[in-house]
Order: sequence, then C-alpha cells, then structure tokens
Amino acid sequence: MLKKVVLTGIKPTGRVHIGNYIAAIKPALQLAQTQDYNPVYFIADYHGLTFIQNKEEFNHLSYGIAATWLALGLDPDRVTFYRQSDVPEIFELSWILACATPKGLMNRAHAYKAIVDKNEQTGVDPDIGVNMGLYTYPILMASDILLFQSDIVPVGKDQIQHVEIARDIAGSFNRTYGSTFKLPEYKVDEHTAVIPGLDGRKMSKSYNNTIPLFEPAETLKNLINHIKTDSTPPGEPKSPSDSSLFLIYKEFANSDQINKMREKYQHGIGWGEAKKELFLVMNSFLEEPRKKYNELMAAPERIDEILSKGAERARALAIPLLEEVKIKIGRYR
Ligand code: ADP
Ligand code: TRP
Repeated sequence: MLKKVVLTGIKPTGRVHIGNYIAAIKPALQLAQTQDYNPVYFIADYHGLTFIQNKEEFNHLSYGIAATWLALGLDPDRVTFYRQSDVPEIFELSWILACATPKGLMNRAHAYKAIVDKNEQTGVDPDIGVNMGLYTYPILMASDILLFQSDIVPVGKDQIQHVEIARDIAGSFNRTYGSTFKLPEYKVDEHTAVIPGLDGRKMSKSYNNTIPLFEPAETLKNLINHIKTDSTPPGEPKSPSDSSLFLIYKEFANSDQINKMREKYQHGIGWGEAKKELFLVMNSFLEEPRKKYNELMAAPERIDEILSKGAERARALAIPLLEEVKIKIGRYR
C-alpha cells in the first residue's frame, strides 16, 4: 500500500517558540516516527520573504528553522527535508495554480484581510503594507502542498483556512483539466490548538509574547516567571484545564509527572511553585536539543549539506508531477 504523504512547512519569520513547537513541530515529528506515513517537511523561506526583507535576518532565520527541526530529532534519512527555495518546481506550479485561482479567494484570506481591516479602521489606504507576495501567499502554500500529493497537513489552527484554500485550488484545477491533484486534509490537535503566550493572548511573534524554544536556561526561567496567572492564592485549589502553565507543562512532562501535577493543582499549588516545576520539566527536555541547535548554528555547512540532499529528493518527487501538469495544460505539442 502506498504510504500517505504528510507535509508541513514553517516560515522563517522569527525565532521558533514553544507554540510552534507544541502545535506544529512536535506532532509532525511524532507522525514521522510511525511507518504509516511518508513525511515531507520544509523551510518555507520564500513565504518568510513576504515579511523579512533584511538579508542577514532572512538568512539567519532560515538556518534557525532548519537547525530547530534537526535538533529536535528530525531524521533526514526518514524525512524528505528541504528548503522551499531549492525546489524551483514549486514556484512554477504556483504560477500555473494562480491562473486557476479566483481573485476573490485571495481577498478572503485571513492574513491579507486582517491588514486591510486594520488599515480601514485607521483610515489609511487599505493596501498599505501589503506586497503581492503576501496577497498571493495562499497560492504558493497550495503549490507547496499539491506538488507532493499531500494527504495530511499538520498545522496550527490559524493555518486551516490556507489548507482549505489549497483544496479549493486543487478542485478548481481538477475540474478544468481532469483529476490531477489529491485534495489535502489539515490535521489540528484540538487540545493544543492555541498555546497562550506570556500575556495570555495567543503566543505569536507578532505579539512579542513568546517563549523561544532554545533560550539559555536562565532566560527560560525568567520568561516562565512572566507567564500571566490569575490571583488565586497558594493553598486554594486550581483548575489545571484553565491554566496556561499546566497546558504547557503537559507537553513536556511524562504521564506520571502530569498526573502528579494535576493533583498538586487540586491541592492548591502556588503559582510560583507551579512555575518552578514547569521550568524544571521544560529545561530537562530542552537541554540536549538546545546544545545540538547551538552546534548546528555554528556549522551551517552541515545544514546546507542535509538540505541540499533533501532538495534532490524533493525534486525527484516534484518533477514528474509538474510534467504531468504541463502536459494537461497543453504546454507540449
Ligand atoms: P507566529 O504566530 O508566531 O508568527 P507562525 O505563523 O510562524 O507563528 O506559525 C508556525 C506554525 O505554528 C503554524 O502551524 C501555526 O499554526 C503554529 N502556531 C504558531 N503559534 C501558535 C500558538 N500560539 N498556538 C498554536 N499553534 C501555533
Ligand atoms: N503558512 C504556514 C505558516 O505560516 C507555513 C507554510 C508554508 C506551510 N507552506 C506550507 C504549512 C505548507 C503547511 C504546508 O505557518
């Protein structure tokens, strides 16, 4: 039986934080370990270019995403792991898909709409701050997904709409040219769909409320101390399911630790103590990956080597499908 393709990408627009890890990287790595799937994971660097237009920053962040995956245990022999911009077929397909995409679909895409709404509220030109890369972002993402005949796309909740757009575009192409692309499905883990940040809002680089994954231990401790909690005093029972601290704790602890911590909440653990425990469990999980991450960032040539091998594998998958598409649109005699 042919294995299902599970594909996901992360764009290098900031340092990877625990929200990215818990919602996107961790489930993807778990899926990659089961033999039922053919995992395809990549660095969506040209998606990042829609936001990051500083040469050094763009370069550094791209390596940062690659090093993060590898430090957390991605096995490049098992996973087809590449940098998006090393696979030119993605961009060629993206244009072809753009021609099968109604403009209205892009007008409704949430990232674009959010900027337009904000501009309208402040009374400025609605398109200020919108480049065409941002506007057509979902088409490039559809290309990423469809070119590999992806079955499953693990993402955070905010990316559901983009996967649905990819389905719409695939449907539109298939109706015009005959069945070509598989219709992908998103996979969102409901329990961890939105990881709260330090201020209680969704953890996001855009809100400056993140806990980056590979901070030195001291900084990590400090950041954890800044997580907002309510004013329930020590000694009073607390509800684990309503606590950001517990939500994060669960993702780094084993089931024994989780059960014990749940009891401690019921017995009224103080928030200071809960933060200390969270730090201990996170730090012990992150110690090794943090070391590996720093080693890789100091040896980018090792990352290049892995990514270029990955790109070769990715292109071997992409080229035949793009050829099929080009035949279907009438590119050849
Ligand atoms: P950010 O919001 O920090 O800019 P990205 O948009 O780069 O993060 O997200 C990368 C991946 O991580 C996506 O799959 C996204 O859905 C997921 N993600 C980001 N922040 C969170 C969060 N706070 N909770 C759950 N998932 C998240
Ligand atoms: N848009 C995704 C994000 O912001 C990144 C991404 C690009 C992606 N291409 C993809 C995710 C394809 C899944 C599949 O997080």
